[in-house]
Amino acid sequence: MTFVVTENCIKCKFTDCVDVCPVDCFHEGPNFLVIDPDECIDCTLCEPECPANAIFAEDELPEGQEQFISLNEELSKSWPVITEVQDAPSDAEDWNGKTGKIDYLEK
Ligand code: SF4
Ligand code: F3S
Repeated sequence: MTFVVTENCIKCKFTDCVDVCPVDCFHEGPNFLVIDPDECIDCTLCEPECPANAIFAEDELPEGQEQFISLNEELSKSWPVITEVQDAPSDAEDWNGKTGKIDYLEK
């Protein structure tokens, strides 16, 4: 099992999640983070930390978010590890909860 970052992280990227991960398995892209499924130990610590409620266990994904399992796996192979909290984008709150954000995912 692994935890998965889903669509609502896109353009929110609050990064609170990286602070609690004991195995540093978050990887950073331009406007989204992903979890490396080979490194995640299912500790559950990151899930409640995300202000955008974007992190779910693989087997509890909301409907329509299934594609993020493969996106986390694929993008974690090329994006660098992130271990320190950063400032969120200035318009992060405006994007929190918006639908269709997959169209804005930068790779
Ligand atoms: Fe890291 Fe634990 Fe979250 Fe997995 S569940 S990404 S190990 S904090
Ligand atoms: Fe994204 Fe939430 Fe982490 S918005 S960067 S998964 S705290």
